[in-house]
Formats: sequence, structure tokens, C-alpha cells
Amino acid sequence: MSIQLYKMLHFTGLVLAFMGLAGVLALRWGKNEETGKRLLFALTHGLGMLLALISGFGLAAKLGYTSGLPFWVIGLVIVWILLGASFALVKRFSNLAALIIIWLGLLAIVGSWLALMKPFQD
Ligand code: HEM
Repeated sequence: MSIQLYKMLHFTGLVLAFMGLAGVLALRWGKNEETGKRLLFALTHGLGMLLALISGFGLAAKLGYTSGLPFWVIGLVIVWILLGASFALVKRFSNLAALIIIWLGLLAIVGSWLALMKPFQD
């Protein structure tokens, strides 16, 4: 598989992961308890996370990082874990929606900074 295809899958996964969180947050914030609707966004988030993870490690392998991952890739894995943990935040603390949106925005900024600037790489 080409690097471009991996990147397409990576970005699609990230978009779906963030979209799923936003959907669950909006439903909870609006006090909509319909589980079918929440499930759709929960599945969108889960599928996106899986896609982002697989394509992320696919990209790392394509770039030749097979052992001893560099700092920026480890950082991306941590951002990915925090993104997954954010699911609990949107479910439980939807009354703090504005703060959660800022938090998710920060995750996107840190993630793209790590991937594009590759800090601490010689
Ligand atoms: C398990 C988690 C992840 C892994 C292993 C991973 C790994 C990678 C790798 C190896 C690249 C290729 C970099 C390059 O071509 O120079 C990449 C690209 C990228 N990743 Fe991830 N990533 C992960 C999660 C994330 C997350 C959570 C975000 C954002 C929130 C993110 C944002 C990006 C962006 C913006 C690029 C494009 C960089 C470019 O075009 O050069 N990644 N990722």
C-alpha cells in the first residue's frame, strides 16, 4: 500500500474519531437519551480510532520506524490514547461542552504539531 493511501486512511480515521466525539457530546448536552443515535456516533468514534491507529503504525513502518519509535510517534500514540479517553469526558461532562471542545482542539493542534514538526528529531 502506498504512503498516500495510508495517509488518506489516517486522516479519514482522525476525522471520524473527532466527529464521533462531537456527536456524542451534542446528544448528551442536548439531553437526548436515544441510545440508537448515541451508538451511531460511538461506533463512528471507535471505527475512526481503529483506522487512525492501524494507518498510523502502517505509516511508521513505511517510513522505516520499526524499532525504537521516535519521540514524536510516541507523542502521537499518547494523543491517540487521550482522544480515546475523551469519550468518557463527552459522556459524563457534557455540561462543560465549551471546555471539552477546547480540549479536543488542543489535542488536534498537539497531534498535528508532533506529526508535522517532528520535535526532538535529529
Ligand atoms: C497511534 C497513533 C498514531 C500514530 C502511530 C501516528 C503515526 C503517524 C505517522 C508515522 C505519520 C507520517 C508522518 C510523515 O509522513 O512524516 C503520521 C502523519 C500524521 N498524523 Fe499521525 N499517528 C497517530 C495518531 C495521530 C493523531 C491522534 C493525530 C492528530 C490528532 C495525528 C496527526 C497526523 C497528521 C496531521 C499527519 C500528517 C503529517 C504529514 O502530512 O506529513 N496522528 N502519523
